Amino acid sequence: MTATTTSTEWWRTAVIYQIYPRSFADSSGDGIGDLAGITSRLEHLAALGVDAIWLSPFYRSPQKDAGYDVADFTDVDPLFGTLADFDAMLERAHSLGLRVIVDIVPNHTSSEHAWFQAALASAPGSIERARYIFRDGRGPDGAEPPNNWESVFGGPAWTRVTEPEGTPGQWYLHLFDSSQPDVDWSNEEVRLEFDRVLRFWLDRGVDGFRVDVAHGLAKHPDLPDFVIDEMIDSMGAAQMGHPAWAQEGVHEIWRRWRAVVDEYDGERILTAEAWVEPLSRMAAWVRPDEMHQAFNFPYLMTLWDASAVKSVIDESLGAFASVGAPATWVLSNHDVVRHPSRLALTAPNPQGVGIGPDSPGLPDPAVARARGRAATLLMLALPGSAYMFQGEELGLPEVLDIPADRRQDPTFARTQGERYGRDGCRVPIPWEADAPAFGFSPSGQAWLPQPAEWAPIARDRQLADPESTLTMYAHALRLRRERRLGSAELTWLDTPDGVLGFTVGDVTVIANVDGPETPVPDGIVLAASRPVAGSIPQDTCVWIAR
Ligand code: GLC
Repeated sequence: MTATTTSTEWWRTAVIYQIYPRSFADSSGDGIGDLAGITSRLEHLAALGVDAIWLSPFYRSPQKDAGYDVADFTDVDPLFGTLADFDAMLERAHSLGLRVIVDIVPNHTSSEHAWFQAALASAPGSIERARYIFRDGRGPDGAEPPNNWESVFGGPAWTRVTEPEGTPGQWYLHLFDSSQPDVDWSNEEVRLEFDRVLRFWLDRGVDGFRVDVAHGLAKHPDLPDFVIDEMIDSMGAAQMGHPAWAQEGVHEIWRRWRAVVDEYDGERILTAEAWVEPLSRMAAWVRPDEMHQAFNFPYLMTLWDASAVKSVIDESLGAFASVGAPATWVLSNHDVVRHPSRLALTAPNPQGVGIGPDSPGLPDPAVARARGRAATLLMLALPGSAYMFQGEELGLPEVLDIPADRRQDPTFARTQGERYGRDGCRVPIPWEADAPAFGFSPSGQAWLPQPAEWAPIARDRQLADPESTLTMYAHALRLRRERRLGSAELTWLDTPDGVLGFTVGDVTVIANVDGPETPVPDGIVLAASRPVAGSIPQDTCVWIAR
């Protein structure tokens, strides 16, 4: 089967909707979303007006990191269905005009992957161990880890194994959980295996891959200590020269992968999840012979501050254009506090820490709602390609009050609850206000508890409401497409401090972030993040026809 594509370079302007399969729609009733559930709800996404979907992992996995711990890269986990369910989902998506991007997780496997099990059963120095990063420990009896790196999820990045004969043995590297051993990308066998995995999904007809941890595969060959002892957030530490992250060696891997996807027709794409700063450095991931897109995390991390937002937009347009790639925009995903809540926080909240009932600076719900909507309308006007995370079209806030015994992000356990982690953005989404589990699951179960107060924001309630966030998204997506904003030029206007103004195509956009009340320019108001009468207050974005 080949992908259903005819237009050229669709990805340069596409709006891509992230489906987090566990939390999207559950057809089996076990409280965990699945592929058949996705298939049954795809028409809603076509109606919303997105161009493509990206699915987080649904592969065989013990689910220690919600499927980002893959035990078999070319099979579907029974939790989510079967390969036939995948094919049916893909066919349905294509018939609705939606392209399908799947996640690929090349930095590590699950510790239950056959390769890792073989490595544990084999001797130091064996070819089985050489697929991973096993090293002897430091100190006289090798009882100290080989270096001082820390896991992104907290705690050391090394775990010591017991050798087959029962003695304390070597250590293996895991930049994430101990159930996610890093593979060794300097080993050609690893490269060949991933060529095979890419082709397996390309042959099935996927339109591309979202590449997990695309800044992590190549480590400094000497595995030296990181010079800062306490790594608060290793993802953010990439720019500080950490020897695990953003090493030059990753680029030859992306060139190899680009050659593989280019063998196929239909413009299959690669999108990098690379937490790299500054943007000028991230641009190296999207040079013409590497990936097509990279997530714009500097944009996502920008606080609700007009001059900072303006600078990051300028910097993004410049950096991506310098290598001929489209700018991308993203506000929410399955790893960050949902953007309405995040943009209304009044205390710093490093990525990965999450928020819960005891976090400092918790958002005011009304401010969160206004900012979330304004930020979205601003983002959807920007030229390039935009990513959305399921549920943001409903304006879902971060869920704070998940009981400790229901939390599943390994971050929570690895930090003894010091960091709440990412469960608050992963709660199953509400479809119908009056159905069990708000229509998420026929049995009424949900793997993370849904707040009772979500009934009024369930999709069916919002569909009929012209003022709802869902209506705003659908309307903005339609205008963006009709007026070709994705491929238009952006020109800044003179505006007071705290207010952003620009023209894009035949639309004028005014976003009052933290500035004075500003008159609505002459013209027809096409869209507004909240009703405006004459002037635009703070936390509000308006599109006007020129
Ligand atoms: C990426 C994923 C995240 C996962 C991690 C390890 O950052 O987005 O959810 O935990 O990689 O695979």
